[in-house]
Amino acid sequence: MISRFLSGVRGTILSPRNSSPLSKFRDFYCYTSQAASSLQQACEPFPYSEDEYAYVDWDNLGFGLMPTDYMYVMKCSENDRYKEGKISRYGNIELSPSAGVLNYGQGLFEGLKAYRKESGGLLLFRPDQNAMRMKFGAERMCMPAPSVDQFIDAVKQITVANKRWVPPPGKGSLYIRPLLMGSGPILGLAPAPEYMFLIYASPVRNYFKEGSAPLNLYVDDEYDRASRGGAGGVKTITNYAPVLKAIMSAKGRGFSDVLYLDSMNKKYLEEVSSCNIFLVKDKVISTPATNGTILSGVTRKSIIEIARDLGYQVEERAIPVEELMYADEVFCTGTAVVVAPVGSITYKDKKVEFRTDAEALSRKLYNTLVGIQMGVIEDKFGWTVEIE
Ligand code: COI
Repeated sequence: MISRFLSGVRGTILSPRNSSPLSKFRDFYCYTSQAASSLQQACEPFPYSEDEYAYVDWDNLGFGLMPTDYMYVMKCSENDRYKEGKISRYGNIELSPSAGVLNYGQGLFEGLKAYRKESGGLLLFRPDQNAMRMKFGAERMCMPAPSVDQFIDAVKQITVANKRWVPPPGKGSLYIRPLLMGSGPILGLAPAPEYMFLIYASPVRNYFKEGSAPLNLYVDDEYDRASRGGAGGVKTITNYAPVLKAIMSAKGRGFSDVLYLDSMNKKYLEEVSSCNIFLVKDKVISTPATNGTILSGVTRKSIIEIARDLGYQVEERAIPVEELMYADEVFCTGTAVVVAPVGSITYKDKKVEFRTDAEALSRKLYNTLVGIQMGVIEDKFGWTVEIE
């Protein structure tokens, strides 16, 4: 069995600390160019590792993909319901060249995190919110979605299966990436005949190369992120590739990311490529209202609730770009980004700077949110879900 396993799959053997005779075998990665169906054969039987941690340099995690042991897959035909999802080895998947997702972008994704507590338990943060957002997005993209219970159950299963990849407390989190796609073949423009719900995961820490240092944003009035009547308010894959050009251009000029304006008037703030935006003026916090072009971020929603609970007034409204001139503080929120302070924003060659010191409100909000997510601050909102 071992020789079949070794000859059938290309990969990398890492030597874990506390090597046991079998642990090298267990640590063999199966991420190859083979499809998961053939991998599963090649890898079976493949027991869950008994090692507490995967062999990872936990002190140097960023937001790069680090494939973990397992993924979750569940399929469904058009007009049917999802049933019998399965955990399999992480690996490539087989898709028809005429899959709806490849030809017409019929796809959605989600992102949520699992944290390891000091006591060793694992905590998920508001998985029901991601499940509901996926359902909402699936309706917009004409796809059947897993039920909220199926979504949460699958997220729990994939987290437990990949437990050894959840970073030690304080070193990051396991980023869980659910996908929903039109996997069936279709040539004319129509909903695909078959759908795939898939979840994979990767340990992560800071999203931006700046780490926790303040971001320098660029307001782009050439490219739009979303338009009225479009799909900016749902987490479709089609909202992301179109902003790559704006991001690459801004990064090439030393900025961290791009802040987009509304496509109709080029006047109001919308969001940053990968996160929502907030402004602080005195005791009032403002963020663009979710009017169909702005993603209803789970972190955005949580920060609004935390800020109100701390006694701040929070306004969700249209924010003219000129208001940046008067803001004391600006920060971004997102699952990947968490709460990131913004040090400056450049608009039409004018750079405005904001407060980012230790007393800045964004620090307090970050500490409260992450404290709840990690289980070190009391979760009076009932947001966290303990799974092991
Ligand atoms: C997230 O914050 O989870 C996202 O999906 C943003 C993505 C661009 C990393």
